[in-house]
Amino acid sequence: MIDPIIYQDGILRLLDQRRLPTQRVYLECRDYQQVARAIRDMVVRGAPAIGITAALGVCLGAQELPEEDPAFFLQQLQEIIGLMRSTRPTAINLSWALDRMEEICKDEEGLSPPLIKERLWQEALKIWQEEKQINEAIAHWGAGLIKKGDKILTYCNTGTLATGGGLGTALGIIKQAYREGKDPLVMVSETRPYLQGARLTAWELKEEGVPHRLITDNMAGFLMQRGKIDLVLVGADRIALNGDVANKIGTYSLAVLARENQVPFYVAAPTSTVDVRIATGKDIPLEERPAQEVTHLLEQQIAPPGTEAINLAFDITPHHYITAFITEKGIILPSQLRLKLGPQNIN
Ligand code: MRU
Repeated sequence: MIDPIIYQDGILRLLDQRRLPTQRVYLECRDYQQVARAIRDMVVRGAPAIGITAALGVCLGAQELPEEDPAFFLQQLQEIIGLMRSTRPTAINLSWALDRMEEICKDEEGLSPPLIKERLWQEALKIWQEEKQINEAIAHWGAGLIKKGDKILTYCNTGTLATGGGLGTALGIIKQAYREGKDPLVMVSETRPYLQGARLTAWELKEEGVPHRLITDNMAGFLMQRGKIDLVLVGADRIALNGDVANKIGTYSLAVLARENQVPFYVAAPTSTVDVRIATGKDIPLEERPAQEVTHLLEQQIAPPGTEAINLAFDITPHHYITAFITEKGIILPSQLRLKLGPQNIN
């Protein structure tokens, strides 16, 4: 069993995803600064997982605060939440989870610091638990779209590692289809530069016994052209109201290739990934990461010293390339997104 996040006796243990698949080690976080660093440095990654981790980080931070002065306590709490918010900008799950934590502080303004601490824990555990249930629902709806023997291309890592212990989103659907006896064959795209596909998705699928083939990112188009891929299933970090999707860099290229080759392209994500304040993809903040992740491969330099590189961590796939969204509330077409999940329907 994969347990990517463990909390016990005031210590948050994060399965260090930078060291997978060769080493299965946990990084221990005893304070909120360590948690913030772990998110920024990709110890834990994947949109839902960083939201859960940030919420737990707020709890660790709250635990350290003195309780005598409630106003000071709340002000310090805001600073902790602010630090967590600054770690990674693209995934809405991070700010969504922190908004929920912040709401506790607002709601409970009359409450004593010890009680606020308790409510924060309850909320963080709720966010964590809900994610697992949402994954199950996404897997249920998504598996219904998969036919026996389908060859499914997936990208980045959207599994247990990315969702804090749940089944996963896109990968959860694949696992569910496998459990239902549909015999999917998964084409795992390696996902340069950080290799989430090769290092993490291939590892998860191996742990689960799901048949898969690792491919380099640049093989996807030709495999589609040759009829070797029946559908593409990816996750999302943020979805604009018009259905444009921010996801791991390279997702857009896959979507264009899928359209060219009449291969269905599905995005699996919880409805909380829809940012109701953002109309189109061009307003989604996109993270840029250190150039070293491109010039080096697993810490081995692969480009001449001093080479300047671009390292955009995410791209935007325009909504017209997306066949449908697979959410915990069912299958939603991009054109229905605003109507079904717009601000008027979010609870
Ligand atoms: O940079 P990462 O590894 O955090 O990026 C992860 C992705 O892009 C995933 O596809 C997305 O977060 C969905 S995970 C269920």
